Amino acid sequence: MNDSLNLKNIKKGLEDKLKSVSTEQDIVSIQLEYLGKKGILREIFSKVLELPEEQRKQQGEKINNLKKEIEELITQYKDKIKGNKSLEYSDLYNSLPGKKPEIGHTHIISQAINEIIDIFKPLGFTRVRYPEIDWEYFAFEALNMPETHPARDEWETFFIESPADKKYGRMVITPHTSNGQIREMLKGNLPIRMLNISRCGRKQIDNSHVPSFYQFEGLVVDKGISTTHLIGVLDYFAKNFFGPDRKIRLRPYDFRFTEPSFEVDIDCGMCHGKGCKLCKDGWLELGGAGMVHPDVLKAGGINPEEYTGFAFGWGVERTYMMKSGTKIDDIRYLFANDLRFLEQF
Ligand code: FA5
Repeated sequence: MNDSLNLKNIKKGLEDKLKSVSTEQDIVSIQLEYLGKKGILREIFSKVLELPEEQRKQQGEKINNLKKEIEELITQYKDKIKGNKSLEYSDLYNSLPGKKPEIGHTHIISQAINEIIDIFKPLGFTRVRYPEIDWEYFAFEALNMPETHPARDEWETFFIESPADKKYGRMVITPHTSNGQIREMLKGNLPIRMLNISRCGRKQIDNSHVPSFYQFEGLVVDKGISTTHLIGVLDYFAKNFFGPDRKIRLRPYDFRFTEPSFEVDIDCGMCHGKGCKLCKDGWLELGGAGMVHPDVLKAGGINPEEYTGFAFGWGVERTYMMKSGTKIDDIRYLFANDLRFLEQF
C-alpha cells in the first residue's frame, strides 16, 4: 500500500467534499463516511493490522494523525456552517427595511368630542347621551315648538316610519341635542350641569351641512343662574378650545326654547376680527345659546319661579373646523373616510 499517497488523497478528497457542503446534515454524513464504524479510516486501520509490526507502527501513527486532521477539518466546517447560518439570518433581517406596523388613531371628531368633555369636566359638567331617535314631543313640543310653528321648518327633520303616539307624536332622528334638556330635567336631580353629546340628523347637505352630525349641548339649571354665567362658561370654553387670545360675542336671536336667545360668534382665527375671505366681517358663527325658557323648565317638571338656567347647543364638526390651523373648508371631508385627509391630523 502506497500509504502516504493514499492518505494524502483521502485528505484531499475530504477537503473537496467539505467545500461543497451547505448544511450541518451534509457534514454529519461526511463524518460518518470517514470516521464512522464502517468508515474509510476504519477500513485502512484494518489493513494496517495485517502489516508486519514495524510498518504497522509507522502507518498506525500516520493514520492517527490523519484522523486528528480529519476531526479538526470537520469541526472547522461545522462551525463555519453554524456561523454562516447566523450571518445569513442577520444579513436578511438587518439589511431589509423594517415594515412599520400601521397604528391608527381615533377619528378627529372623536378626538374633538374627548377634548370638549375634558374642558367642561372641571366646571362640573357630566357627559350624557340621550336618544338619537326620539319622540317629536322631546325634540319640539316640550321645547315650546308646537307642530304648526314655522320655526320647526329650520330643523328639516327626518321622520321614522312608525305609528304616532297620542301624547308624544311621531318618532324622529333627533335634529338637535335639545331633546336631552327635557329628559335631563325629568330625571329630577337638581342642580343640573349636563353635557349631552349625541348624533343629530337633518335633511341638509352642502359644504357646511351634513345629514348626520354631532352637537354638544350644555344645560345648567340652578338657583340664581343668569346670562353672566352663560357668557363666563362660553368664554372659558372658547379660550380653552380655540386659544387664550380668541374672543366670543353674543348676537340676539330667537330660539323658541330660550329667552333671551343668542347666536354665539368667535373672532376669526385667520384674520383675528379684521375681516377676510373666510369670515367676511371678522366673526364666525359657533352656535345657539340662551336662558332656558320658563315653559321648558315647566315641561321638565321644574318650578321657574325657583330655578333658572342656561343652555347652548353647538355642532362638534363646525366647532372643530373653526380651530385655527385646521383649514377644513368642507365639512364633508370629515366623513369621506379618505385616509389621505384623516392622516393629516
Ligand atoms: C340648534 O340646534 C339649537 N338646538 C341650539 C341651541 C341649544 C340653542 C340650546 C339654544 C339653547 P342650530 O339649528 O343653529 O341650533 O344648530 C346649532 C349648531 O349645530 C349649528 O351652529 C351648527 O354648528 C350645527 N349644525 C346644525 N345643522 C347642521 C348640519 N346639517 N350639519 C352640521 N352641523 C350642523
